[in-house]
Amino acid sequence: MRYAVLGGGKRLRPLLTYASGRALGAPLPRLDAPACAVEIIHAYSLVHDDLPAMDDDALRRGRPTCHVAFGEAMAILAGDALQALAFERLADATALDVDAATRIEMLRTLAAACGAEGMAGGQAFDLAAVGSVLGLAELEHMHACKTGALIRAAVRLGALAAGAGADALAALDAYAAAFGLAFQVRDDILDVEGVTADLGKTAGKDARAAKPTFPSVLGLDASRARLASLTDEALAALAGFGVAADPLRELARYAAARIS
Ligand code: IPE
Ligand code: IPE
Ligand code: MG
Ligand code: MG
Ligand code: MG
Repeated sequence: MRYAVLGGGKRLRPLLTYASGRALGAPLPRLDAPACAVEIIHAYSLVHDDLPAMDDDALRRGRPTCHVAFGEAMAILAGDALQALAFERLADATALDVDAATRIEMLRTLAAACGAEGMAGGQAFDLAAVGSVLGLAELEHMHACKTGALIRAAVRLGALAAGAGADALAALDAYAAAFGLAFQVRDDILDVEGVTADLGKTAGKDARAAKPTFPSVLGLDASRARLASLTDEALAALAGFGVAADPLRELARYAAARIS
């Protein structure tokens, strides 16, 4: 569990939780538990994503994947236990000084993002679609589930911790939905044109595994154009926010341009 969580990574989802909470004035300590919870869920999803039964990857965050280092059974169990740990942290953190209804809504938000309508469902769609040709709408739905759902939850948890009202929650969700899709489009592009040494994971795996991806469905140029329009959409959703939302804007620009 420590190997999977503490071994690097960009920490993008917790950064989103902090940036979203801070945009609405939440005190930093209140954001620690939700930020940790989303990163722990993400780390668990990577451990399972890399398993032989799924993407069968040997390199993650520049090191052997969890199952290569510890065996498949331990990797499955580490993932299971990380998932439980994320909810435990969110449920019991005393620094998360919100009322009980807000805490339950935070737990519900994270649970929904992990489940059949979120990450796990998206992963199932991804594996079921291997070798088939998806339309753009199906591909975007798959990406919105497998990657977008947790990114949306990361942003929403920060906003809930800040006591956000309905308007702020809706604007931030529009930002997060565009960001989440853009993030996976960039991930797909990097699988084609990225370098293993930068990525810390093996480049070129999607095509070899016949995965439906943005480049395979749209081609690289149209994928880049879609990434740019999604980034504009994410930034436009923040139009009503002042400088306190600048870290959210910076993260959207970074996610579109990143090389790792
Ligand atoms: C990789 O996520 C998996 C996807 C959902 C695309 P990241 O690119 O955020 O991985 P780390 O956390 O930096 O390793
Ligand atoms: C993974 O998508 C999404 C998860 C829910 C983990 P990918 O399979 O494209 O992620 P990488 O490229 O292995 O990091
Ligand atoms: Mg995968
Ligand atoms: Mg993978
Ligand atoms: Mg990928």
